[in-house]
Amino acid sequence: MKITKICCIGAGYVGGPTMAVIAQKCPHIQVTVVDLNEQRIADWNDPNPENIPIYEPGLSEIVAEARGRNLFFSTDVDKAIDEAQMIFISVNTPTKTYGKGKGMAADLKYIELCARQIARVAKQNKIVVEKSTLPVRTAEAIKSILDNTGNGVQFQILSNPEFLAEGTAVTDLLNPDRILIGGDTTEEGEEAINALVDVYSNWVSRDRILTTNVWSSELSKLTANAFLAQRISSINAMSELCEKTGADVNEVARAIGMDSRIGPKFLKASVGFGGSCFQKDILNLVYIAKSYGLNEVADYWEQVIIMNDHQKRRFSNKIVQTLYNTVADKKITFLGWAFKKDTNDTRESAAIYVADDLINEQAKISVFDPKVSKNKMLNDLDYLETRISQENIDALSVFENAYEACKGAHAIAILTEWDEFTTYDWKKIYDSMHKPAFVFDGRNILNAKQLESIGFVYNGIGS
Ligand code: NAI
Repeated sequence: MKITKICCIGAGYVGGPTMAVIAQKCPHIQVTVVDLNEQRIADWNDPNPENIPIYEPGLSEIVAEARGRNLFFSTDVDKAIDEAQMIFISVNTPTKTYGKGKGMAADLKYIELCARQIARVAKQNKIVVEKSTLPVRTAEAIKSILDNTGNGVQFQILSNPEFLAEGTAVTDLLNPDRILIGGDTTEEGEEAINALVDVYSNWVSRDRILTTNVWSSELSKLTANAFLAQRISSINAMSELCEKTGADVNEVARAIGMDSRIGPKFLKASVGFGGSCFQKDILNLVYIAKSYGLNEVADYWEQVIIMNDHQKRRFSNKIVQTLYNTVADKKITFLGWAFKKDTNDTRESAAIYVADDLINEQAKISVFDPKVSKNKMLNDLDYLETRISQENIDALSVFENAYEACKGAHAIAILTEWDEFTTYDWKKIYDSMHKPAFVFDGRNILNAKQLESIGFVYNGIGS
């Protein structure tokens, strides 16, 4: 089947950039991205491409090129489903906050709603592509909904997990390490797989397009995230040991990273990983393992999360201890709130948890982040339900300028590794602070020696 019309349900961090790149690379395919969230769609359609709702380097240029040509954003989900031969499901799959599997299992209610909507609307055969990260064997559930409520229409379900990383989404999409497509091993399944291979091969070489059965594909995404997060928790575990022994975790990371069997990436010690995916996907993996009675497997992976929670808490404890065991009414300035640099996404950001701990200790938090709005920060804190909204409003001040944010602070904590933080005039910042002036570098990005020579008391991770 030659694909000429694609629909994507979910205009989020995955659906938006992924479809923008498909549209840019496949001008012969009409791509419509739909979402129930009207504001989000309005923002994607903002005449000024700089105002699109997701910040990713290079994305606004691609949207500017393809939007209105063969890339469309709409709230008319039914119409887009009806017209498309291929439908990507790219909706959110958060951790369940209720009922069975609460706090662990993936909440598939949005996925199920999509499947039911497709079943209701579809009049011709469709290929349905799971783009969201899903528990292994979800395709079975989707297929059963589609087959039992459809109008005799044939559906093929493919799993095509997305491996982009936020902050580098555009380059990851343009030049992926691999594309993974899982499908049925039947003739119709293979036809569907080939249709999707044809889409990607407009810009990705065939030897990087991997095809597998559906279950391997679904499970590979959870496995990839578990392995990546495990590397971070492993180096973070070492960072605590380094602090006790006089070793320096940056030196240890460098030394082990040069071993070609280990490799240098994802070995940076920090205040802990964040982002919408790692924690939820590992919890999901743990839940799946438990549901098969594989308790050792579940415990093994759960430890990655336990270590990460510990690392965040350790950071806030260190701030309190270093500031003479009290931060009550002290001004602590956070540089960065996003979960990593080059994104405006704050989901599960370490900053939220560190702020929450410090507000419990009655600190006053000032924040500067180049891309995150005050509203988002307050929502993040409110979401934890630790205290009433007004108390969060009272405890948090947000600045448009880093120097203003640091004025009169007792301590500065680096929570996100934004490049610009390394280029600041740190002498000027020092002069405006209470003394002794402390820096807690949760990302190990600043030059410790330089800061110490200015007069700062510098605390990095793992040294
Ligand atoms: P997101 O929350 O940014 O976007 C999801 C969008 O789907 C929202 O705008 C929501 O309004 C919309 N939506 C939900 N139900 C809908 C429905 N029934 N009809 C129409 N629209 C609906 O989520 P994000 O980050 O894009 O993630 C989507 C999936 O991709 C998740 O499963 C995630 O695990 C996976 N993923 C995310 C990555 C990331 O870096 N954010 C990377 C790789 C995979």
